[in-house]
Amino acid sequence: MASSPAPSPAAPPLLLAALAALAVVASASAAACSAGDRDALLAIRAALSEAHLGVFSSWTGTDCCTSWYGVSCDPTTGRVADLTLRGEADDPVMAPAGRPASGVMSGYISDAVCRLGRLSSLILADWKQISGPIPPCVATALPYLRILELPGNRLTGEIPRSIGSLSRLTVLNLADNLITGEIPSSLTSLTSLKHLDLTNNQLTGGIPDDVGDLTMLSRALLGRNKLTGAIPTSVGSLTRLADLDLAENGLTGGIPDSLGGAHVLTSLYVGGNRISGRIPASLLQSKGLGILNLSRNAVEGAIPDVFTAESYFMVLDLSRNRLTGAVPRSLSAAAYVGHLDLSHNRLCGSIPAGPPFDHLDAASFASNSCLCGGPLGKCT
Ligand SMILES: *[C@@H]1O[C@H](CO)[C@@H](O)[C@H](O)[C@H]1NC(C)=O
Repeated sequence: MASSPAPSPAAPPLLLAALAALAVVASASAAACSAGDRDALLAIRAALSEAHLGVFSSWTGTDCCTSWYGVSCDPTTGRVADLTLRGEADDPVMAPAGRPASGVMSGYISDAVCRLGRLSSLILADWKQISGPIPPCVATALPYLRILELPGNRLTGEIPRSIGSLSRLTVLNLADNLITGEIPSSLTSLTSLKHLDLTNNQLTGGIPDDVGDLTMLSRALLGRNKLTGAIPTSVGSLTRLADLDLAENGLTGGIPDSLGGAHVLTSLYVGGNRISGRIPASLLQSKGLGILNLSRNAVEGAIPDVFTAESYFMVLDLSRNRLTGAVPRSLSAAAYVGHLDLSHNRLCGSIPAGPPFDHLDAASFASNSCLCGGPLGKCT
């Protein structure tokens, strides 16, 4: 290795001074708000109106990065990275009295949002009155988007067809709106997606068969829509899926056996559909499952007698189906069963003694074919 020339005695202090100067420049000049982004923000504001909280009152002056409420930027480029405005919030700016603020915003989401090309999160949540469609350009013009949360508004129209182009998207929450149309088939290309919440809209059509491709998915909430067709078998390959809510749709077909293999499944809500077939034994044996609601379907056959000391159910609601046979004896082996509802089925025979049956009242067993014992009184 060649020896480096001896440094001149003056070099180290000079170098330090230069570095110090650079540091000062860097910290003092977190880049100012990009003028293009500022114009886009002003156009977004012009399409919205919010009278009570004054969330937009700070949106004045040129530096949108430092003082505009709900806006934050990448400090090196001055490009807007996050736009977060929540109508139900307890942060001190919006709720100076310490009470959670509840705001109302009307208007629509301007296409100008698509000029914020470096946006990483877009959150306009719980404003109740924001209407109109989600600008389709969001899916094509915002490739850095990781979080898209627009719940609790009155958004109409369809989910942008090219939503699958948002390859970095981890959270898609459009719950509690008036969104129509089908779940776009491109959605299953969102391979980074962890949380999908489309609850309480007017979505029709089926759940895409290849939903199992969303390998990072941990919450899939699709309840209270108008979805039809079967629960795709591929949901069973979602190894990170913890919460699956399909309640109150028009789903038909059976509960896929594969769901019993979704290892971290904690809650499964399928109530209020037209599901038929039997309850897969593997599902009841699934270790972490704490909430299972199959109420109000057309599920038939016997309840698999496969409960063990590892069964721990906060809620086990199998009411209003066509279940036959006896109340499974093994339920008394379960570590815990909080809320059990087997009412309105076609069960018959004596209710086993012991926990959890000691603590349940008659309503849990009402309207069956010929149940007796326990809270229903002696079998004769
Ligand atoms: C189970 O789901 C049905 C239909 O969605 C609902 O009506 C019922 O309240 C749920 N049961 C429990 C215990 O939450």
